[in-house]
Amino acid sequence: MHDLDFGRLPRHVAIIMDGNGRWAKQRLRNRIFGHEEGTSSVREVVKCCLDFNIPYLTLYAFSKENWQRPESEVKALWRLLMRFLKQEMQEMLEKGVRYRHLGDEEDIPGEALDLIRDAVARTARADRLVLGLAINYGGRQEIARAARLFAEDVLKGKARPGDLSPEVLGRYLFTADLPDPDLMIRTGGERRVSNFLPWQLTYSELYFTEVLWPDFRREHFIEALHDYQNRERRFGRTSEQVQEESR
Ligand code: FPP
Repeated sequence: MHDLDFGRLPRHVAIIMDGNGRWAKQRLRNRIFGHEEGTSSVREVVKCCLDFNIPYLTLYAFSKENWQRPESEVKALWRLLMRFLKQEMQEMLEKGVRYRHLGDEEDIPGEALDLIRDAVARTARADRLVLGLAINYGGRQEIARAARLFAEDVLKGKARPGDLSPEVLGRYLFTADLPDPDLMIRTGGERRVSNFLPWQLTYSELYFTEVLWPDFRREHFIEALHDYQNRERRFGRTSEQVQEESR
């Protein structure tokens, strides 16, 4: 087993689960088969976070851009998400997993939206792991929405333009009361952020792996945690300052 330092694990891990389509293609199956197997990786990573006491996990499940995929794939993705929410509910409740929805509610099919709202409400008191699902999510859209909400508060007299700071705008984001991710993992070989939490990832460590999402299991997650532990997080300070503070 890897010698992880349990005192220095990330508090919040965010993941872009990429490579489902290629994984399926390699097996001469349709893309949906890859998404199905990807759901098993989701279960495994949730379990890892619970085992390691990592309190926040956020997954990029369906982006604003994903609507452009063939209709059959879009439908299958919603079906899979709904199945996941239904099937896992009891276990999530028992394990102390609290759902969090990140993304616009409009455009989400009615049945799926009901399930998402129900999952968030039913798990509201769970306190071991906050599982953020970015669904119908886009980072720039999230920032624009926050600016719009702030402007509305200005019109209502609840805020003044001069009050606007990163902290204040942050309160209008979907992640308002969540810590920023410490580690962002992207599977599938691409090295991009793809409109996923651009505001919140400002100081996150980024980890890219060639492993396709359906193959991403416990050992790969541990490998990413290891890599994270070998980084020095400076937040703009010098290396000497960081070392001085950690003494
Ligand atoms: C990217 O792979 C993956 C997605 C667009 C969807 C992710 C969804 C799941 C893992 C299924 C269910 C999720 C939850 C939270 C239960 P891709 O299709 O872009 O792969 P490719 O780059 O190889 O084509």
